[in-house]
Amino acid sequence: MLSEVAHNRITLIMNAELRSRFARAAYLDPTARVYGGVEIGDHTSLWPYAVIRAEGQHVSVGCYTNVQDHVMVHVGYGRPTIVGDYCSITHRVVLHGCTIGDNCLIGIGATVMEGAIRNAIPGIEAECGGACACATCHVYVDEAWQEKVGSPTPMEEDMLDFGFDVRPNSRLSCQIKVSDDLDGLVVSTPERQA
Ligand code: FES
Repeated sequence: MLSEVAHNRITLIMNAELRSRFARAAYLDPTARVYGGVEIGDHTSLWPYAVIRAEGQHVSVGCYTNVQDHVMVHVGYGRPTIVGDYCSITHRVVLHGCTIGDNCLIGIGATVMEGAIRNAIPGIEAECGGACACATCHVYVDEAWQEKVGSPTPMEEDMLDFGFDVRPNSRLSCQIKVSDDLDGLVVSTPERQA
């Protein structure tokens, strides 16, 4: 059974079964799937084809968080998955046995694995969710790390033109591919974002 809620100028169909379980959620798309020991906080939303699966461990999603289209949230091997309040888990993200703090934006297509802990970084806004289309995730790479981090692509350079106080060591943090080599990476943020 479906119920409707008006949202801006479109009508969103709610998943009534999930609605009865998470009565204070903001929106629960009919295609969203939730299995097992899952808690969802007040005013949180699950968008099309989001899947949250909790078997041996639990999944907890905080308040005012949006879990966007095609996100997969699963528990780890002996670890729960915890997502804080006021987070954006954007399109096609995979969260697996990890902890996401409050006020975090997890960029489009990101995978956060087993035991990882992500916290919000003050000074990074990342409005486009990692699509290299906003320049609000601008950082300065510490001199000692510049060679390892490498240079921006032409597309990133074009977008950096919109950044505030761009310097030779400027990068868009969403375009830095995180690897074991970058463990301990030091960056700083500009006085303000674009
Ligand atoms: S998050 Fe928008 S360019 Fe990096």
